[in-house]
Amino acid sequence: MTFKNDFLWGGATAANQLEGAYNIEGKGLSVADAMPGGKERLNILASPGFDWTIDEKKYVYPNHFGIDHYHHFKEDIALFAEMGFKAYRFSIAWSRIFPQGDELTPNEAGLNFYDQLIDECLKYKIEPVITISHYEMPLHLAKVYGGWKNRDLIEFYVRYAQVLLERYQDKVKYWMTFNEINSATFFAGLSQGLVPSNGGDDKTNIFQAWHNQFVASAKTVNYGHQLNKDLQIGCMSIYSTTYSFDANPVNQIATQQSIQEFNYFCNDVQVRGAYPAFTERLHKKHGVKAELLKITDEDLSIIKSGTVDYIGFSYYMSTVESKTGEGVEASGNMVLGGVKNPFLKESEWGWAVDPDGLRYALNDLYGRYQVPLFIVENGLGAIDTVDNEGLINDDYRIDYLRRHIKAMNNAVEDGVELLGYTPWGCIDLVSASTGEMSKRYGFIYVDLDDEGNGTGARMKKKSFDWYKEVIASNGEKL
Ligand code: BG6
Repeated sequence: MTFKNDFLWGGATAANQLEGAYNIEGKGLSVADAMPGGKERLNILASPGFDWTIDEKKYVYPNHFGIDHYHHFKEDIALFAEMGFKAYRFSIAWSRIFPQGDELTPNEAGLNFYDQLIDECLKYKIEPVITISHYEMPLHLAKVYGGWKNRDLIEFYVRYAQVLLERYQDKVKYWMTFNEINSATFFAGLSQGLVPSNGGDDKTNIFQAWHNQFVASAKTVNYGHQLNKDLQIGCMSIYSTTYSFDANPVNQIATQQSIQEFNYFCNDVQVRGAYPAFTERLHKKHGVKAELLKITDEDLSIIKSGTVDYIGFSYYMSTVESKTGEGVEASGNMVLGGVKNPFLKESEWGWAVDPDGLRYALNDLYGRYQVPLFIVENGLGAIDTVDNEGLINDDYRIDYLRRHIKAMNNAVEDGVELLGYTPWGCIDLVSASTGEMSKRYGFIYVDLDDEGNGTGARMKKKSFDWYKEVIASNGEKL
């Protein structure tokens, strides 16, 4: 194996999906707190009547309780340390720091929680890797300001980011500005606070929101670099390796366009510092009223100066594109869509398992951008069961991760510069797309069901000891 000695092995989570404690010690409501649990989650968010009202008589809100990490973080981090984590990627809940989002001073109680969390990581020499905004923004900003389409959010976000960077600059080196920024293609409610009732069904708003996020991100990068030149601030997007269904040039062109739109658009702006040449084509495709977009020359120069230091990305699956639609079967994947790949198996949620696609992703991103890469999410969401002896034999997860780590090693041998690997949901948590607890990713099982019933006890799965060995051998023992 060829991983560097300081390779950052670890795991990843997001505040809104595990902390719970959604309304204590001054925390405000976030968009995630207004999202019902269950497989219908994305459809509910996309329905015309959805206006962020929380109706506890009608729905369960699993993000309210998460896995109560807020009160169990010491126990959880001790387990991560036992696995030998070198890094832990987590996010800060914006609404814990600025409960409404538009205040001028932060909530000290919220910061105190992260002081303790960061110190707990450092106690075990675990490098904290922080996502400043992971599918979470104060609900007030979505309801009253209309989400990221409103330019005021740039100022609010930058104020929030500055508080974090100033406070933690000597303890935290690696940062990411927005989680999966390209996910607004299908997740604008979560990532931009945009749903149909506040303009999410008009793509002009989505592109305006992206632009505002790009400016906010670039300002944050510039601020961080001026504050402390050692800080490494990255972008973060989903990479979906996309194959053409067949050699028909019509399908090949459709595939190329879909790659440009999904895998390159946001990265191009954040890594290269400029909108790509195909932007106008995207606007036309989506009926964006480009003349209404507020993009100033000053914005463009901020974007140009505030390019990121590395690319963080998530990789779960590949997709297949077919424009002609001949001989295809729809994929079971409700998030990225596309058609079924006859050469690959899908997870229970229809996500095509494709380790070679990760090697492809790493080579593609490194070839295009030539900045260090960090795989900050990867993993298999599956139903786990506890057997009569209290064991959780998640061999399927070990198999998935083993194959992806091998592919990652191949890419490093291909010449890719890779900083680390933090598989998703290292401890079971609430799923983002379906709000389920039963879609589990962890090395650590948490005894809670979709309704939040259970003891909340933490149990090691078989993959726990397996991953411990992987880390101890720096990827040799798979
Ligand atoms: C990524 C997100 O999309 O994938 C995480 O950054 C999310 O927040 C993860 O949880 C897995 O998706 P899901 O829908 O299975 O939770």
